[in-house]
Amino acid sequence: MKKIVYLLLCAMLLSFATTVRADEGMWIPMLIGKNQEQMKKQGFKLTAKDLYNANGSSLKDAIVHFGGFCTGEIVSDKGLIFTNHHCGYDAIASNSTAQDNILDNGFYAKNYGEEKPIAGLFVRFLQRMEDVTTKVNEATKGLTGAEKEAKMTEVFNAISKAAITGPMIEANVKDFYKSNQFILFVYERFDDIRLVGTPPQNIGKFGGDTDNWQWPRQTGDFSVFRVYSSTGNQPAAYNVQNVPYKPKKFLPISLKGVQNGDFAMVYGFPGRTDRYLTSYGVDLATEKVSPTIVKLRDIRLKAWRSEMDKDVSFRLKMSSKYAQIANYWKYFIGQTEQLKGLKVADNKRTEEKAFTQWASQKTEFAGLMDQYEQIYADIDPISVQRTYINEGFNASQWAVNASGIGRALINFSKGKYDAAATKQIQENLTKAITAYQETYNETADKKIFARILSSFYADVPVKSQPKFFAEIAEKYWTGNPESTFEKFANYLWERSNFINPEKLKAFVASNPSADAVTDDPGYQYALNIIPADYIKTNFGSTVADFEKKKAELDHLYLKAILEKNAGKMMYPDANSTMRLSYGNVQDYSPKDGIVYKTTTTIDGVMQKYIPGDTEFDLPANLIENYNKRNFGQYGNDGTLTVGFVTNNDITGGNSGSPVINGNGELIGLAFDGNWEAMSGDIAFDKKFKRSINVDIRYVLWCIDVLGGAKNIINELQIKK
Ligand code: ARG
Repeated sequence: MKKIVYLLLCAMLLSFATTVRADEGMWIPMLIGKNQEQMKKQGFKLTAKDLYNANGSSLKDAIVHFGGFCTGEIVSDKGLIFTNHHCGYDAIASNSTAQDNILDNGFYAKNYGEEKPIAGLFVRFLQRMEDVTTKVNEATKGLTGAEKEAKMTEVFNAISKAAITGPMIEANVKDFYKSNQFILFVYERFDDIRLVGTPPQNIGKFGGDTDNWQWPRQTGDFSVFRVYSSTGNQPAAYNVQNVPYKPKKFLPISLKGVQNGDFAMVYGFPGRTDRYLTSYGVDLATEKVSPTIVKLRDIRLKAWRSEMDKDVSFRLKMSSKYAQIANYWKYFIGQTEQLKGLKVADNKRTEEKAFTQWASQKTEFAGLMDQYEQIYADIDPISVQRTYINEGFNASQWAVNASGIGRALINFSKGKYDAAATKQIQENLTKAITAYQETYNETADKKIFARILSSFYADVPVKSQPKFFAEIAEKYWTGNPESTFEKFANYLWERSNFINPEKLKAFVASNPSADAVTDDPGYQYALNIIPADYIKTNFGSTVADFEKKKAELDHLYLKAILEKNAGKMMYPDANSTMRLSYGNVQDYSPKDGIVYKTTTTIDGVMQKYIPGDTEFDLPANLIENYNKRNFGQYGNDGTLTVGFVTNNDITGGNSGSPVINGNGELIGLAFDGNWEAMSGDIAFDKKFKRSINVDIRYVLWCIDVLGGAKNIINELQIKK
């Protein structure tokens, strides 16, 4: 009897842990029909077909994968795109100079002619998706290991290739539930994307890193782009003759605003979640990997910041890279804090115990957790050092470049390439060196290099240090690690041709001999830190064994979970494919005695205002219009709503996604997650997890009243 009760309890625990609640879930649009009843109950007024219809037009046709790393939505019949400011950040910053500083001052094109083409930027529209699990499984039946993997790649390629029906059609097969399901995605890609408008960064990034990942928030995190096509409305490379694209669908905009409890959904391209990570994986992250990442990023950020504050040009060139590193620096701080605070590993251990009990009856899944324990025990001792490869050694851009450039130079000197190949490689080299030069800063780069090495010396026991590193430490030893690695840095900066960009250019132009390259101490150093080589030389097969075994275990674990939950609503981890999350506008209590409201307002913007501050300064015309309470058609109750929170399930990649009401109208743009639920990529916490959104009325007020860009407003379909 006792045993039966225990088993029942385990089953309950497990089903609680692995089935979803109303707001949790990044659903696959093609399969959204199964959620329709629940969505209706929560306030959704349309049908599943209005969301996804591969044969007609539906809301999915108004959603774009923006640059492959963010989401955007089409808001006019002339291909106008809204996305986040931080998604357009690189395009905006790289089009800024001290003289024409659109990052700091903002910019709105008054006509098509003023819109700025952004080289390299693209958007993808999803045409259709198709479950190809049976095809893949049939082709790989009976195979294992490397043979299975090779076959899998072959089938993926064959399926994708068959789906490509035109020059700008892209197709790929993605795996779901750790290779327990496979879905084909077919996209149409557009390469002529132009910047239409952006607020000044003290609106678009108001609150900076201090407010990042936090609610209550008052950031105007939006920017405006446009898709261009050929005159025949087809995708085309940039051309002045191109015209605004006429989309299949665009989102109307509602100015009605939001109330606590209103239906809200987010449609976009979430990048990656790891919700089935085991307790062993969580422990490794919180104890070893994440603290190392944070520490190493801290070194870079501090060194860059002090140089950025000295020089506007360097700041503009560096801003995008800085923001990227800072964003995930704070992410890992918050994630670690909340994984611990919300006892995620402990909760997972409880679930895993129940799982093990259930699995003990099934030969296929028995002993799974013990095997996880073993592989994590094997990888643990090298995890800190492994994190240093990419986040430490390869954080020095010169060292990343040096091995590749050096090898190309050696091959040139040996006459390995024909004229055409030589020309191509030389062009690529010139491009790479020019890009490298943009953000090169001797003071910061040298400091970063030396500090990362001394940090490694402190973090990795001498007996585990790689040979090349121990040799450097010995040869340059001064009595203390910091000055030792400074001495080594000074030596490299003086002697190597691969660090100073001017010296590097001259070196490349001199057609150096193979010996001149191989004798260069910077090149010699760089050869040691090529990630794949580093891993093989220093860890043997440990990393490859871990990855391979983990993939196998993950596959089985998810297979078991799907079996255990057959018939229940399940959703797969995010994998940069289109998903829909639905729920409600919802307030929350961050801690005992405090409730955070669902909305923030322009009054809150003004309360945070710090004149002259890098994060909390404001444009003069915002203050003027605030003082006049000039909110136009966008205000309500004597103020202007700026941000709001919903309980939608989002992650990185969702940035820029539309927040849509029950009628299919745009009410905001998702741009962030909240501090209390930073563990959300690993475990969704219903009580705390929120999506932070900028209210569409604030976006339009900034464009219209502050930016004076009536031309943009006139394109929109606004519902009052
Ligand atoms: N944390 C946001 C995200 O990853 C990015 C916010 C950008 N703003 C900033 N202050 N860095 O989606």
